[in-house]
Amino acid sequence: MFFQTQGIRLAYDDSGSGLPIVFLHAFPLNRSMWAPQVSALSAQFRTIAIDLRGHGESDAPLWSFSLDQYADDVAALLDHLDIPQAVLVGLSMGGYVSLAFSRAYGKRLLGLVLADTRAQADSPDGRTGRFHLAQTAYTQGIEAVANTMLPKLLGATSLNNKPELVESIRRTIHQAPVSGILVDLMAMADRRDATTHLSAILCPTLVVIGEEDHTTPLIDAQLMAERIPHARLAIIPAAGHVSNCEQPELFNDLLRGFVEMLQPTAGEPNFRL
Ligand code: MLT
Repeated sequence: MFFQTQGIRLAYDDSGSGLPIVFLHAFPLNRSMWAPQVSALSAQFRTIAIDLRGHGESDAPLWSFSLDQYADDVAALLDHLDIPQAVLVGLSMGGYVSLAFSRAYGKRLLGLVLADTRAQADSPDGRTGRFHLAQTAYTQGIEAVANTMLPKLLGATSLNNKPELVESIRRTIHQAPVSGILVDLMAMADRRDATTHLSAILCPTLVVIGEEDHTTPLIDAQLMAERIPHARLAIIPAAGHVSNCEQPELFNDLLRGFVEMLQPTAGEPNFRL
């Protein structure tokens, strides 16, 4: 399905019914990375997965956008679907967008899942890395991006033992238009530091991290879990950066348990973190 916001057409899937969960994907992937969660959870909840601008079937205009605008797109999708509040699940870049969303639209959050992401802005080295990846994307194309990103996205266990998953992630990267990649890299390089915002996140929050994630490592997850008032940390074994794809059952169990805890009982959410 598609909707329009600010002159841009964005794609999304909307499955199931019940408490709404909105999934925000990583860079440079798209909403298809949430297939294991959508298929497992849409019998119980309403699952909504969006292609962020520049990805999948969404428009990918070459322009300067901020991650705050990506968050505005998510709010526009909720408006389009008449959903006042939802649980947001953001992985990596999706987590950066979730943090931007929580800053601008915190009252619309029933709960937040920050998976394999970080609150800090880019370091100078991180920005330099984005500059180089942008040049790689522009001059060498998507296969070079895939070769750079696969070892960052997947943990050692998956890289060594799950060739089908490696190929599936490679195929997903190949669906990314170069314009979307360039826009993301500039938007991520310029994103605001969210560390001082963490204490203002008032909804129940689950911080998830793959134990083999070296792209946004455990220490970054610990910082978020320590500073967000109602947060808990879960570590997924034998998973790297895309922990939801690498250990889908474990990720789904964590997510299901978290969202079940948010189900309203007698009119009130059941916050037990
Ligand atoms: C992602 O998975 O979204 C990216 O690795 C995030 C980043 O490059 O900071």
